[in-house]
Amino acid sequence: MLTTTSMKTHGCGEVTKNEIGKEITIAGWVSAVRDLGGIIFVEVRDKSGLFQLVSDPSKNPEVYDVFQKLRDEFVIKATGKVSLRPEETFNEKLATGEIEVYPTSLEILSTSAVLPFPLNAEDVSEDVRLKYRYLDLRQEKVLNCLKLRHNIVKTIRKYLDEHNFMEVETPILIKTTPEGARDYLVPSRVQPGKFYALPQSPQIFKQLLMVGGIERYYQIAKCFRDEDLRADRQPEFTQVDMEMSFVEQQDIMNMVEGLLKEVFRLVDYETPDKLPVMTYQEAMDKYGSDRPDVRFGLELFDIGDIIMNSNFDIVKDVLKKGGIVRGIKIEGGAKYSRKELDDITKLAISYGAKALANIIYLEDGTAKSPVLKFVSEEQAKQIQERAGAKAGDIIFFVADKPKVTYDVMGRLRLWFGDKLGLIDPNAHALLWIVDFPMFEYSEEDNRYVSVHHPFTMPNKEDIDKMETDPAHCRSIAYDIVYNGNELGGGSVRIHDGEIQKRVFKALGLSEEETQEKFGFMINAFRYGTPPHAGLALGLDRVVALLAKTNSIRDVIAFPKNSNAKCLMTDAPAVATEEQLRELHLRLTVKTN
Ligand code: AMO
Ligand code: AMP
Repeated sequence: MLTTTSMKTHGCGEVTKNEIGKEITIAGWVSAVRDLGGIIFVEVRDKSGLFQLVSDPSKNPEVYDVFQKLRDEFVIKATGKVSLRPEETFNEKLATGEIEVYPTSLEILSTSAVLPFPLNAEDVSEDVRLKYRYLDLRQEKVLNCLKLRHNIVKTIRKYLDEHNFMEVETPILIKTTPEGARDYLVPSRVQPGKFYALPQSPQIFKQLLMVGGIERYYQIAKCFRDEDLRADRQPEFTQVDMEMSFVEQQDIMNMVEGLLKEVFRLVDYETPDKLPVMTYQEAMDKYGSDRPDVRFGLELFDIGDIIMNSNFDIVKDVLKKGGIVRGIKIEGGAKYSRKELDDITKLAISYGAKALANIIYLEDGTAKSPVLKFVSEEQAKQIQERAGAKAGDIIFFVADKPKVTYDVMGRLRLWFGDKLGLIDPNAHALLWIVDFPMFEYSEEDNRYVSVHHPFTMPNKEDIDKMETDPAHCRSIAYDIVYNGNELGGGSVRIHDGEIQKRVFKALGLSEEETQEKFGFMINAFRYGTPPHAGLALGLDRVVALLAKTNSIRDVIAFPKNSNAKCLMTDAPAVATEEQLRELHLRLTVKTN
């Protein structure tokens, strides 16, 4: 359908050779002016594309006068008959490159100051682009991200609608959500001293919708989390949030696989009908990460048993205290220089390791390593076999607490994958990670906290471990991972009040705390709760990955920077004395 309005008959990019000889009116921004001394060419741009206008003073001096006034980014409206360009001036790069218009009328609708940065230039800083985001949006690359986002959302809505999901909006001013990040708080004026929290997700409400009998819910939902920001994290972001009743884990997986199939088709990737499934433990053991990038190998290996038989006392002590050791083999790495090895060690230390050990396997069949003081030749051979290392290879390993070992080795693996060019940028690796642990110990809080959230169902086989061995209690939670990124996560929920109470207890919440925080929810579950489960996709991440950009800021119309600041509007801003008084707040910091 043409984007016709009372001011234009066609979008600039919509005019085709079929219109040759017909009169059209287009309107848009002047994207380029070329004055060839006598004849002026102007490219007009709107959302649909570009179109060329030409002025010849001998044919129409009045219009030529207006042409002479045109500057970049003026908004204009032109009417005229479409004509074929001379063949030698065809522009293959442009959809409208074979046609043009000599306007019979040309109007300047608004002028433009000189832009603070040139459009479509490569080296403009992100800060400048974000300050003038409305100009940034005029650039084809940025606009294309928003177009892709729109198409993805349209596809998602269509798919979920066809599968009987109902979109329901949930509130933004709420109590608190249990996603584990810090809440954004909004002070209440009418109830002095009280605060709303902004939802970290619609989690509680979507479960209550299941109690309410909605059965299949979804929402393109805004979520707010006050956490450390990174390229894939914004303080406000969007989830494709879903919940279903009378389902098990497999039902959610099937539904999401069907949904992703439609979404990935937009970038011409046909996903497999069944996605691979890997347990959390396998992902950690082989890739050191619960969002493994499986586009390449370089799998980690365990040499704890071999080390335990050695005299490597520092590492044995680590293992005896519950630590683990994991290694990685780099083919041909024996050639690394002293300096390269030092740099790799420094990198591992910057990732959190205390030390990084290496063993080089030489062409003459011997091994070279600072750890040979503690590891016998025989044990070095066993390690070589375990690693599958040949002469000329090197292995690195770290021993530490599981979290540190996995994290350092997982990151080192990604670093090597990138450095050695092992990652095919055109590959697509989607997979499920399942069997997440139910709890993890928080040193900071000195207690177990939920890995997913406290409404997640423990694995039936492990349910009694909640009291006896919480660290090894698995949950029915799953994540969908794409090329090393967590696209989404979800779980089967607890619909049994007794199990829910045990979970809160395992989390160290007293009856009173539980009542105060989640009493309304526990109460709701007393009135007939269907078994239910769900998942939320991070929409911004989905779009950014499909658009192949490095940052979700690129696919959000008005993003915040890494200090959670909107550079365009300068939010957050100071409140006036009057506002603070009305909200019953007094500041303990000076704000200017
Ligand atoms: P979770 O916390 O895993 O689950 O969030 C789901 C997905 O949301 C995306 N995401 C983010 N994207 C951008 N910026 C952020 N700060 C950010 N935080 C999370 C990720 C993540 O996979 N209520 C549960 C879902 C459920 O159980 O159904 C939840 O919010 O892509
Ligand atoms: P040192 O006796 O201090 O020279 O240490 C001997 C070797 O053990 C060095 O190569 C260290 O890198 C290595 N090493 C010490 N602690 C660890 C650890 N936790 N993980 C891996 N290697 C270690």
